Amino acid sequence: MSDFRSDEHDRSRKQGFMPAWSVLGIGTDIIECLRIAKMIEKHGEVFLTRVFTPDEIDYCSGRKAANQHYAGRWAAKEAVLKALGTGWAHGIQWTDVEVVNQAGGKPLISLTGKALEISRDQGIDEMMISISHCRHYATAYATAVCLTQEPA
Ligand SMILES: CC(C)(COP(=O)(O)OP(=O)(O)OC[C@H]1O[C@@H](n2cnc3c(N)ncnc32)[C@H](O)[C@@H]1OP(=O)(O)O)[C@@H](O)C(=O)NCCC(=O)NCCS
Repeated sequence: MSDFRSDEHDRSRKQGFMPAWSVLGIGTDIIECLRIAKMIEKHGEVFLTRVFTPDEIDYCSGRKAANQHYAGRWAAKEAVLKALGTGWAHGIQWTDVEVVNQAGGKPLISLTGKALEISRDQGIDEMMISISHCRHYATAYATAVCLTQEPA
């Protein structure tokens, strides 16, 4: 996945335009890490593959505090759904919202399936995300933005 913001920013500046971002929606969520740990313990693979993509499972399972990373992704998915304003209606799957970490750790959101369809209908160009977690809680904040062009 490319860094849309950086690519678009560079391209726009060369064309004499400055990209301006309009916020179309926001969403936040908080979850107890223990709740996620219990669901993994009880439902194992079935829970993991229903909620997380294979790449998300790779990322989280390889880390010491795996439950915190899973909980962070759970919060991110819920926050994105709030930013879309739809909740889990309209046939959106958990795996339609994926957290992808860049090399330095910065998380990006990749939307597929129904979530992508709805975001396109709403004119959303990018879903920005910030995630934080500690031993007890994980939280995430999502911002849905659309790009407009203004003369530089
Ligand atoms: C980003 C940073 C401030 C996170 O703070 P923290 O208090 O340790 O941890 P938090 O629980 O608040 O946040 C963790 C989340 O921050 C996000 N994050 C990590 N690096 C980030 C970055 N460069 N920019 C934005 N968000 C980042 C991730 O989503 C991470 O959760 P995840 O790994 O489950 O996806 C800290 O990790 C940092 O300074 N990183 C610098 C980059 C670095 O050292 N990278 C090492 C690998 S190259």
